[in-house]
Amino acid sequence: MPAVPPSKLPAASEQGGPPPEILAAFEAAKGFMPVDEGLALYAAAVEAGRLGLPLLEIGTYCGRSTLLLADAARRAGVTALTVDHHRGSEEQQPGWEYHDPETVDPEIGLMDTLPTFRRTLHRAGLEEHVVALVGRSPQIAALWNSPLGLVFIDGGHTDEHAGADYAGWAPHVAVGGLLVIHDVFPDPVDEFTGQAPYRIYLRALESGEFTEVSVTGSLRVLRRTEASASGHR
Ligand SMILES: C[S@@+](CC[C@H](N)C(=O)[O-])C[C@H]1O[C@@H](n2cnc3c(N)ncnc32)[C@H](O)[C@@H]1O
Repeated sequence: MPAVPPSKLPAASEQGGPPPEILAAFEAAKGFMPVDEGLALYAAAVEAGRLGLPLLEIGTYCGRSTLLLADAARRAGVTALTVDHHRGSEEQQPGWEYHDPETVDPEIGLMDTLPTFRRTLHRAGLEEHVVALVGRSPQIAALWNSPLGLVFIDGGHTDEHAGADYAGWAPHVAVGGLLVIHDVFPDPVDEFTGQAPYRIYLRALESGEFTEVSVTGSLRVLRRTEASASGHR
């Protein structure tokens, strides 16, 4: 499908929200994203889907946000890709605030969110619209070489991980496509897992390649307005 110039893309607010059954599945799924941020992510994904390029998420967890990307991908006739090693982020490990004991594989004693993710997607009838990439984000990014309509960064919250997600995936956002970053907290008083997402958000703006489109809670939507020196045109 040929790319649609950004000026021809309707505003996110004109897109309509997800169907009620998808919103209900999102609300029922394990995960951390509030509904208002989910609706903003969905609007961004529907808009970006008009470019006819895949939508990619870093940080699948149990599939809560993936459901929204998957439904937007279904609407656009594109594929949603979601990257996760499924072993959990630092703050989700046993003993930490965001740990859920149900996510531990009792046989090996490590987190494994892949089975729950697959059930989430299956129940919502969206399996065929999603390709799950199971592995470490920088390792997969190093193998990737095609343009994306949307990149949603919601993976590890350390500078090492968030920085690698930005460096590895942002260059693949096509001109006119969207970069969405979750857990952006400009005020350290509000943050709960570190300000690395805020720092990559600043990097994106300071690069001069992205322009802010919307702010909803801790979710930031940016549009690529200039080609990346190392990416796609
Ligand atoms: C905050 S959760 C994602 C939440 C999900 N987007 C949602 O809305 O429910 C972060 C996820 O990123 C994954 N993750 C963290 N660092 C990663 C890395 N370097 N490569 C792949 N996945 C990673 C973790 O396993 C975890 O499932």
